[in-house]
Amino acid sequence: MRVLIAYASKTGNTEECANKIKGFMKTETVDLINLKKQSRVDLNQYDKVVIGTPLYMGQPARQFKSFLDKNASELMSKEMYLYVCGLARGQEGIDLLQKQVSPKLFDHASFVGQLGGDVHLQKLNPIYKWMMKKILAESKPNLGLMLEEIEKFASEIES
Ligand SMILES: Cc1cc2nc3c(=O)[nH]c(=O)nc-3n(C[C@H](O)[C@H](O)[C@H](O)COP(=O)(O)O)c2cc1C
Repeated sequence: MRVLIAYASKTGNTEECANKIKGFMKTETVDLINLKKQSRVDLNQYDKVVIGTPLYMGQPARQFKSFLDKNASELMSKEMYLYVCGLARGQEGIDLLQKQVSPKLFDHASFVGQLGGDVHLQKLNPIYKWMMKKILAESKPNLGLMLEEIEKFASEIES
């Protein structure tokens, strides 16, 4: 079995998540692709496709959206898994993602995971940094990737 994990990431969390998913998997061939560096992928060679994105102001990464748009019909013929990183954890984050993905593709996903999220202030531009400092001070959200959820997500892919 050959699995692709394609992700977009601004400050590294969604990328780290992709690495951790791969780390929890027993499948030998798991290819990771950063959609910011490579947007075209031959999906023919993969049995299962995992696609991950962070959320910024309720929006998934541009590269995530265009990957889904470009490959929609092929993805409909594959086992597909979606994951989202962000501060809105659990079902709340999944609901936010659902609003941004076509209902047909979203329903086709075998499993959708919200795997946590983190904030690296030093990697944000000044405006985002200012916004995030305010959010962190006011809402004190839980931070960090959720290892248990990541492990569960990885085992869903292999089940
Ligand atoms: C300006 C800004 C807006 C954000 N908006 C959202 C949001 O709407 N929903 C959410 O769940 N997380 C939001 N986040 C949190 C990010 O999704 C989180 O930091 C994520 O781990 C970033 O992933 P990345 O490092 O792969 O880019 C926001 C973060 C920043 C800095």
